[in-house]
Amino acid sequence: MMRLPVERLTLTPLTPQQAADAAWLHRVGQPGSFLTALGDEVLTVLYRVLPQSRVGFGFAAIDPLQPQKLLGFVSATTSVAALFLEMGLRRFPDFAPALARRFIQEPTLALRATETVLYPFRHATSDAPSPTGELLSIMVKPELRSHGVGGMLLAALKAECLRRGVAIVDVTVAADNQGAQRFYVRHGFTYVQAFTLYGRPMHLYRALLLEKKTAA
Ligand SMILES: CC(C)(COP(=O)(O)OP(=O)(O)OC[C@H]1O[C@@H](n2cnc3c(N)ncnc32)[C@H](O)[C@@H]1OP(=O)(O)O)[C@@H](O)C(=O)NCCC(=O)NCCS
Repeated sequence: MMRLPVERLTLTPLTPQQAADAAWLHRVGQPGSFLTALGDEVLTVLYRVLPQSRVGFGFAAIDPLQPQKLLGFVSATTSVAALFLEMGLRRFPDFAPALARRFIQEPTLALRATETVLYPFRHATSDAPSPTGELLSIMVKPELRSHGVGGMLLAALKAECLRRGVAIVDVTVAADNQGAQRFYVRHGFTYVQAFTLYGRPMHLYRALLLEKKTAA
C-alpha cells in the first residue's frame, strides 16, 4: 500500500495557482452542494480570486516532495459581507463567463444563485458579533482523512484569524454532515442555530478563539 505523506505534510498559504486542485477537492468533498453544482470552472475562479482578496485567505496542505499537488485546504474570510461585495462587484467579470456557461446548461442554478447573494444578510440576522470571520471550506483528500490533516488546517486558520484581529469564526455545515460537525465540536466550535440554504437544512457553528477570563 502507498505510504501516506501525512508525517511530512506542510502547510503553506493557499495560492491562486492551486485553484483548480482546490475546486476538485471541493467537488469531491461536498457532493450535492450548490457550489459543487456550479461546476469546476466556477469553483476554480472562486479559489483563484479568494486568496487575492484583502479579506480572504486559506492554507494548503502539501507534500514537500510533490508540492504541486494539493492534499487538503481550508479557506476563510474575515468578513463575509466585504467578500461578497468584492466578488459581486469588482470581481464579477472573473465569474461572469463561467457562470453564464453553467446557467445556460442548467437554468435552475441561476434561481438558486440568488440565495447566495442574500447569504450575508441572513448571516447578519444570526446576531453574529463583529468582527466575525467565516470558515468557507475545508477539504482533505479522501484517502488522507482522519489522520489529523483537517485539525492542522483548522489550527492554522484560527492563528491567522487572530493575527488579523478576528477572534470569532463561524462555519455553516450541512445538517446531515455529522462527521464534519463532530470535527468542528472537537475543535472548539459550538452549535448556534439551524437554517435552510439552497433548500437544504444547515447548521451554524461558532468558535470563540480567545478564552474569556474568569473573575478571580
Ligand atoms: C471534515 C474534514 C475536513 C476533516 O479533515 P480530517 O483530516 O479528516 O480531520 P481530522 O483527521 O483532523 O479529524 C477527523 C474527523 O473528521 C471528520 N471526518 C472524517 N471523515 C469525514 C468525512 N468523510 N466527511 C466529514 N467529516 C469527516 C470526523 O469527525 C473525524 O473524526 P472521527 O474519526 O472521530 O469520525 C475531512 O473529513 C473532509 O474533507 N471531509 C469532507 C469535506 C467536508 O465535509 N468538509 C466540511 C464542510 S463544512
